[in-house]
Amino acid sequence: MTFQTGGAGTSAPDEVQAMESDPLHPVRPQAAPAGEGVSPGSSAAIAEEHRVLRELLGRITATRDLGALLPQLGELEGLLAFHFAHEEEADGLHAVVADSAPDRLPEVQRLFDEHREIARRVMELRERAEELWRGPLAEVLEGVAELADRLHRHEAAEGDLLAGALYDDLGIGS
Ligand SMILES: [Fe+2]
Ligand SMILES: [Fe+2]
Repeated sequence: MTFQTGGAGTSAPDEVQAMESDPLHPVRPQAAPAGEGVSPGSSAAIAEEHRVLRELLGRITATRDLGALLPQLGELEGLLAFHFAHEEEADGLHAVVADSAPDRLPEVQRLFDEHREIARRVMELRERAEELWRGPLAEVLEGVAELADRLHRHEAAEGDLLAGALYDDLGIGS
């Protein structure tokens, strides 16, 4: 049986975006969150990555703010690329299962195939969120800013009018 690896979108460190707070350019993890002295593909490292992933998924599913969701989806995309690559390494899931439960190797291949589907879905959702951020949401925010400007001018004109009427009433200047 062959195990397909490397298609989960791993990024070379020099492709990682510079530190920015722009939701469209989230900071992506440059290294897996494995603990000190833990080999990247080991069971302990994978379990730790699962813990970090659960924490991130908790934050993502609680988010209703697109500006916050965008960098979180970018973070998820980067984290999964590293995590899936580690699981698919020679000493990753395949090695652990081959040693202890070889009859379950087909399940390993199914999970590796699912990595591709999950990575694609995360990318689609991140791209859709970016479209909304640049398109409909940007249009609404721009409209709100224009409306606020117009209302400021409108209220200022009324303020001038009232001040002028008061000035005339008091007969000042006549
Ligand atoms: Fe996993
Ligand atoms: Fe996995």
